[in-house]
Amino acid sequence: MSPRIMHASFPALRLRRTRVAEWSRRLHRETVLTPANLIWPLFIAEGEGVEEPIASLPGVSRWSVDGIVARAKEARDLGIPCVALFPNTPSALRTADGREALNPDNLMCRAIRAIKQAVPEVGILTDVALDPYTAHGHDGLVDDAGYVLNDATVEVLVGQSLNQAAAGADIIAPSDMMDGRIGTIRDALEAAGHINVQIMAYAAKYASAFYGPFRDAVGSRGLLKGDKKTYQMDHANADEALREVAMDLAEGADSVMVKPGLPYLDIIRQVKDAFGVPVFAYQVSGEYAMIEAAAAAGAGDRDALVLETLTAFRRAGCSGVLTYHAVHAARLLGA
Ligand code: PBG
Repeated sequence: MSPRIMHASFPALRLRRTRVAEWSRRLHRETVLTPANLIWPLFIAEGEGVEEPIASLPGVSRWSVDGIVARAKEARDLGIPCVALFPNTPSALRTADGREALNPDNLMCRAIRAIKQAVPEVGILTDVALDPYTAHGHDGLVDDAGYVLNDATVEVLVGQSLNQAAAGADIIAPSDMMDGRIGTIRDALEAAGHINVQIMAYAAKYASAFYGPFRDAVGSRGLLKGDKKTYQMDHANADEALREVAMDLAEGADSVMVKPGLPYLDIIRQVKDAFGVPVFAYQVSGEYAMIEAAAAAGAGDRDALVLETLTAFRRAGCSGVLTYHAVHAARLLGA
């Protein structure tokens, strides 16, 4: 007999009994959300004392490096353990080969060093992919037909990863979806002595309609022709997500990510059950914008929407969530 079979039946069994008061609901709560479960994505702008609001991401701005340091301090004070960095590279520095990604003094590296110097206790996650650096907006190198080349791109991503690690990145997070990049990057990090630099693989990353505001934030939306379907996953697929995760784990990923978040909770649960490894979700820009639009339209309470969606990720099996609501949520959680 299954231990899950319930022996009592109504009225001996009343599932509403434990919900009758707040103290009891708290006592019976199965998952908890704390600021320690949050990673805060930040967009970096060139300059000094600069704040550039992003119209399609209301409430989110790009900050120059000094502002990024201030945001990292804010994260620390709220108990948020880690920030994720994305540069808005000046357009003059965007090229077909994305070589600015390899510049030790690029915006990303300057932000990493500044945070490490001022707030060393905050973890820094860095995105590895070429889209903030290429003139065509793709995550890798393209051939004459516009196809994103796998192996040639991986070589550049290795250089980008080493560049970020040398600047002080704690977690390298490849978001490019090239095959074989995790193992190649891991080998290079080991060889360079970065043995404790982690890799969080964007393992199951879908070609999604939810990335629009992010592309505005890093300035790639207008540059990108077409879509990313030859490298990012088809949103109809789940078995393939498990193969992607298995591959990245076999190559040495320390943790894996599913992205976008809410529409893919089934994938998160399957990955957690199948592999038992740390799983993270990215509640992406379009999801953030939907919540903000719903709240602005009076369709839902913003605070409640934020906490409900973030708790859902924990219930689905996530260790943590990348979310633009990180600071708002941490405040609500009373850190
Ligand atoms: C690019 C990258 C994207 C996001 C994170 N890294 C966009 C894309 O793949 O086009 C999206 C994040 C978001 O929408 O918030 N490598």
